[in-house]
Amino acid sequence: MTNFKWWQTSIIYQIYPRSFQDSNNDGIGDIPGIIKRLDYLREIGIKSIWISPFYPSPMKDFGYDISDYKGIHPIFGIMKDFDRLLDEAHKRDIKIIIDLVPNHTSDQHPWFLESRKSKDNPYRDYYIWKDSKKNGKEPNNWLSYFGGSAWEWDRETQQYYLHQFVKEQPDLNYANPKVLKEILDIIDFWLAKGVDGFRVDVICNMWKHPDFPNNPKNPKWTKKLPPFEKYLMKYNVNQPEVHAIVRKMRKVLDKYKDRVLIGETYLPYKGLLEFYGNNDECHLPFNFHLLGVKWKAPAIKKKVNDYEKILPENCWPSYVLGNHDQKRIATKIGSEKQARIANMLLLTLRGSPTVYYGEEICMKNVKIPKSLIQDPPALNQPDVADIVGRDPERTPMQWDDSPNAGFSAKGVKTWLPLAKDYKTNNVEIQKTQSNSMLALFKSLTKLRSEYSCLNSGKYKYIPTAQKDIFAYLRYDKNNTILVVLNFSQKFFKLDLSKKLPEKNGKLLLASDLEEHHSTQLSSLNIKAHLGLIIEIE
Ligand code: GLC
Repeated sequence: MTNFKWWQTSIIYQIYPRSFQDSNNDGIGDIPGIIKRLDYLREIGIKSIWISPFYPSPMKDFGYDISDYKGIHPIFGIMKDFDRLLDEAHKRDIKIIIDLVPNHTSDQHPWFLESRKSKDNPYRDYYIWKDSKKNGKEPNNWLSYFGGSAWEWDRETQQYYLHQFVKEQPDLNYANPKVLKEILDIIDFWLAKGVDGFRVDVICNMWKHPDFPNNPKNPKWTKKLPPFEKYLMKYNVNQPEVHAIVRKMRKVLDKYKDRVLIGETYLPYKGLLEFYGNNDECHLPFNFHLLGVKWKAPAIKKKVNDYEKILPENCWPSYVLGNHDQKRIATKIGSEKQARIANMLLLTLRGSPTVYYGEEICMKNVKIPKSLIQDPPALNQPDVADIVGRDPERTPMQWDDSPNAGFSAKGVKTWLPLAKDYKTNNVEIQKTQSNSMLALFKSLTKLRSEYSCLNSGKYKYIPTAQKDIFAYLRYDKNNTILVVLNFSQKFFKLDLSKKLPEKNGKLLLASDLEEHHSTQLSSLNIKAHLGLIIEIE
């Protein structure tokens, strides 16, 4: 695997720092906590972590509202802790990817504090200020992702400013070249420190149509969808000019060796491809298509095959099954057995998989009582809190069965409640169970490290007569591996002998971690919810 970059062959493990490990018993996770768990990550085969924001922030959007891009929020530690994290991670051959939030700052960022002082303040133009319409209304119909209008009236200076998220997250103005210069300087600051890359938050939203036209209505909107989807985000998302910004970011990365630029790109495949640029934009525009898809084999096959078809050779694939904004996979699918298939799929497809913390032990969404809700979109829109709230997927990591699950000490009030099942579902217990999700996860990562074809080999779809089965090959000059996944509760007898002339195979791994499964390619017994990984000999 020597020709491949680390970000092509490693799994990206996302840590939401508030919820991973609390080291000072304030009920909130922190950087020393992450350091404490590096050995665990190493043990389960993780070689790169992406950490959600840890910068100084008033926490109106839990760190995605940054007031100092070059600091560390005291909740999470101090800069020395971060330097130690880099050091300790690198010692263990683990890369550190950090979150860059260039679309907006906190309203408490010094730039915005200046900007709102007066219309002629030198920082005024760092943000997007507009006059009201003649009738006093907002400049256009753009909606905030977190509820209500995307415009906030500033009484002092008698103008509206744009905020695509909470009103305390004003959007930066990239039409002002000084803004990009500031952000590039921030990128350089962290790269010089030694971080291995960035995940760029809402990368598609940085540029807005210069005329700020109204967005068109979404004819497909129903009450089951978040309110912001009432309008199609035609003029505030994915404007062609955004690519020039991304190229400038990439240029800074390219001054350093082996760094990665990842984009948060909720886009159709065609738009996603554009974010690779000409190998001069993102190395990995996140592919979120498996998040939105119905958990049925035909839909998943189509998503994967369409992606494989459209991706040019020099664009490296990415797959994501969960993050801090999305329902946990077992909750979304409603089945722990299928969650095993999900992990098997994610870790055997071609490309770089991203795993959200806790998915390796099958954590589930936790119902948060109304009085404990923290997430701004849910607080702002109580009627649709169940649709838009993200607290349920952000609960503390379940390490063991001690009070507070080894996340915080006994008696501490954790920032979000723990899952009720943490005493029976946690890392320590799963370490002792030979057929746990954790055991499966570790076997999968081990296979990936042993078989280069799983990491960097090619992908070939194997059509079968069963619509509920997804079968594919991963192969390179060393090995060929067949993956067969049953997305249903039905039993199938599969005959793959016409597709694969080889008669037999060697079982490398089954999703139930049993070893008795037959590997005769003319009659594979695939029981309900079973996944098999077979080396073709
Ligand atoms: C991204 C983040 C999300 C955050 C938003 C605003 O979508 O993933 O958590 O709330 O941007 O920064």
